[in-house]
Amino acid sequence: MVRWAGVALATVLVVGASPVFADEQVRLDYLLHCSGCHLPDGRGAPPVVPGLQGDLGVIVGLPEGREYLVRVPGASQTPITDKQLTDITNWILYRFNEKTLPTDFQPLTVAEVSRARSRVLLDPLRKRAEIWDRIEHRDTSSYSQ
Ligand code: HEC
Repeated sequence: MVRWAGVALATVLVVGASPVFADEQVRLDYLLHCSGCHLPDGRGAPPVVPGLQGDLGVIVGLPEGREYLVRVPGASQTPITDKQLTDITNWILYRFNEKTLPTDFQPLTVAEVSRARSRVLLDPLRKRAEIWDRIEHRDTSSYSQ
């Protein structure tokens, strides 16, 4: 009996350590907590719910953009752990935004997500406009050099 329990536990641990299984768990978390508004493929329903595809790699290139992604109320206020939110956000970035990710992109860490999400954005749309303004401004200045 004890021996079988040991085998079952070992099996769970091996499966639990598999990156494929971890990725599937993150996908399920995304489906459960985010896709109701952002849709399973991240398309969203613009202009009310922004899509999570394509452009987030540009946003994450700015330090305040990294924070912004987990400070929006839908992300920061959803009752999931900091680790789950970190995994979901990195998953969204790699899964839906790989083409726009900075070449030196480092995945978000649990510590920075934990710090940032505690500062909930009260006016996310205004912050979004500020970030895009900065991105466009930076682009313009680099083009003019
Ligand atoms: C109840 C609907 C809803 C749910 C659930 C939701 N969001 Fe959102 N999300 C929004 C809306 C609406 C916005 C636009 C900003 C705002 O008004 O809060 C947004 C904005 C965002 C943005 C910024 C996108 C951009 O281009 O500016 C990110 C990133 C994001 N959500 C991630 C998530 C994640 C991750 C989850 C799940 C943990 C989630 N959201 C769950 C409605 C939702």
